[in-house]
Amino acid sequence: MSTNGKPRRSQAWLDTPELYGWLRRAAFKAEGFGEQAYEGRPIIGICNTWSELTHCNAHLRQLAEAVKRGVWQAGGFPLEFPVMSLGEYNMRPTTMLYRNLMSMDVEESITANPLDGVVLLGGCDKTTPALLMGAASADVPAILVTGGPQLKGNWRGEELGSCTDCRRYETELRAGRITDEEWAELQSCILRSPGHCMVMGTASTMASMGEALGIALPGNAAIPAVDSRRMQLAEAAGRKIVDLVESDLRPSAVLSRRAFENAIRTLHAIGGSTNAIIHLAAIAGRLGIDLPLALFDELSRTTPFILDLKPSGRFLMEDFFYAGGIPAVLKEISPLLHLEAPTITGRTLGENLDAADNQNAELIRSADAPLSPEGGLAVLYGSLAPEGAVIKPTAASPELLTHRGRALVFEDHDDLGRRIDDPELDVTPEDVLVMRNGGSIGAPGMPEWGLLPLPRKLLQRGIRDMVRLSDARMSGTAFGTVVVHVAPESAAGGPLAAVRDGDLIELDVPNRRLDLLVDEREVQRRLAERPAPKTHYARGYGWLFAQHILGADRGCDFDFLRAEGVAEAAVTP
Ligand code: FES
Repeated sequence: MSTNGKPRRSQAWLDTPELYGWLRRAAFKAEGFGEQAYEGRPIIGICNTWSELTHCNAHLRQLAEAVKRGVWQAGGFPLEFPVMSLGEYNMRPTTMLYRNLMSMDVEESITANPLDGVVLLGGCDKTTPALLMGAASADVPAILVTGGPQLKGNWRGEELGSCTDCRRYETELRAGRITDEEWAELQSCILRSPGHCMVMGTASTMASMGEALGIALPGNAAIPAVDSRRMQLAEAAGRKIVDLVESDLRPSAVLSRRAFENAIRTLHAIGGSTNAIIHLAAIAGRLGIDLPLALFDELSRTTPFILDLKPSGRFLMEDFFYAGGIPAVLKEISPLLHLEAPTITGRTLGENLDAADNQNAELIRSADAPLSPEGGLAVLYGSLAPEGAVIKPTAASPELLTHRGRALVFEDHDDLGRRIDDPELDVTPEDVLVMRNGGSIGAPGMPEWGLLPLPRKLLQRGIRDMVRLSDARMSGTAFGTVVVHVAPESAAGGPLAAVRDGDLIELDVPNRRLDLLVDEREVQRRLAERPAPKTHYARGYGWLFAQHILGADRGCDFDFLRAEGVAEAAVTP
């Protein structure tokens, strides 16, 4: 029985008259837990994405120990369990192919077991959204604890961020401006510690979204992975989850429409990853909340961009931590937020900000003197993207945000790799590089291929940016004038499939337009002639993925996982 007089969820497993209740207690004894360890205590799952195949999450077992201490301190009974882990560097063809599978693992692992609450341990790009998607569907009290960013890289005195600067120096290598020996030396200097990428890439962005949504403790996103304060925060999360179970505060009560609007405002204020648009739409969809792309754009136009962090700016996550982290950002944009939104602290978002303080006004600008009066992401529509496309203007070249150029089309990622460095390639800096078959169905899995490499012959002339577009995604750590998530994707018959070399394309970010300047009848004629898209999987998970994947504008979730038509308050199973 909980302190609020209601039976705990775990009692349905343990207090059964038939054999299984007895057996479950016997099983705890087999692990060395006497009855005093769990009798009368809430059972707290620690859902761990630890894996040595996911270097960003390789330290999460130590963090789990800190969570356990907190759970014991507050009178709970902690049980750690593994779920699938998605390591950005190792998984092929892309972790995004498996995000939904991991979310199902999380949901089913929570719902099938005698858990009263759960602490979600994630870090690398897809692990955090998959945890939140699964926990939203399971709707058992939950707190997110992320692994924290790596320490700053340092090479020959220059502070570096992964993997923004990996990409920058790879470009310099291709241009012949650094040597193979220097490139090899740099490899040991950039990823210096446990933790996730330490720019405002997807991992840092999704950790920040956790705070803005109110499902992580204040300050969680920016504490470096190896800072002792992260262990202290994990311990505090262990204590807090026991409170949440007693008050029965579930994700569906925290992750409201107001909370998502707060997260979208924060995403724009920090110049976060384009991937967050997809992940937030997917998490919200699990709760029956629609987040149309137009909402992201509407909030972008009225949210100042205030965070000077790579890849859009200069600093790194470690600096951001010292500056005050996400609470300081939220405080700067607080007039734009729903401050009354409840959070897992038991206090409102506004109350959580009482102690927030901006310690570095150069890094976290004020809303009155922002880096840009508009947010860090923009949604484009037009004849080339009838269902939308996304660009990160803060990481683009300002002079290219309004541009008209000749299309140079690559059929897919392989075609791009084969031809991009061909000395005979007919390309000028004013051209628009186009790649298709980079979406969920075409690639498959919508990999982060959107940062199309520049042709070597132009790199050698000193060119460092061009307009590039595709139906793929882009790493949150990347930068450049790159349009991604062009929808519908080419393999689903979007106009991207009709573009030919030499067609004129017009990008107009101030007016949010992306147009193919070709007669509509000609576009339809070309689409009618296009070959059927390639089938990548005849069976198994890949086949299931292709049958049920939704578009980028609906979060790339599976149709059967969304809570369509479910009222916000009625998600609880
Ligand atoms: Fe894991 Fe960047 S590779 S967060």
